[in-house]
Amino acid sequence: MVVGKPIFTVEQIQHKVRELADRISRDYEGKDLLVIGILRGAFMFMTDLVRAIRVPLTVDFVVAASYVQTETSGEVKVYCDARESVTGRDVLLVEDIADTGVTLNYLRERILLKRPRSLKICTFLNKQERRTVDVPLDYVGFEIPNQYVVGYGLDYDNKFRNLPYIAAFRKSV
Ligand code: IMP
Ligand code: MG
Repeated sequence: MVVGKPIFTVEQIQHKVRELADRISRDYEGKDLLVIGILRGAFMFMTDLVRAIRVPLTVDFVVAASYVQTETSGEVKVYCDARESVTGRDVLLVEDIADTGVTLNYLRERILLKRPRSLKICTFLNKQERRTVDVPLDYVGFEIPNQYVVGYGLDYDNKFRNLPYIAAFRKSV
């Protein structure tokens, strides 16, 4: 297993997070913002993002997964649902990476059933090339090519999430 050089350094990540948080702070002025992070991948991005947002907000999490090692199973499982009621609130769903789009689409539709006032999606990374389900992304940190990455919350088999930067990953040399 090989972790390559950083694709996005700590500094690049910090800069991008501030940029996203500035946009979100402007867009949610005077609203009832409920930020829902998708665990486990989004845990690091989520904590950086909410700390940089300057409007009042509520934090919640949902635990969901579709991946087994480096392959998507195509089936999303929710292990633990958000506790906050989303009805009538301005919900921002926060994800680490949009790949096929299956996870975000599934969680988006699940939340929409409960009639939030608004629902937007913020993903730190986007692999547009891999998209099989069309899901609207409102805030995207970086577009990346079809390449498996780890770090900054992203894992391979639940490892490497603690790297403070994002790097390419290969199973063998
Ligand atoms: P999707 O449902 O195919 O869009 O996959 C989204 C989920 O797959 C993300 O929440 C990640 O957990 C995982 N994933 C997709 N691509 C990568 C990657 O390059 N590195 C690590 N995890 C990934
Ligand atoms: Mg994830």
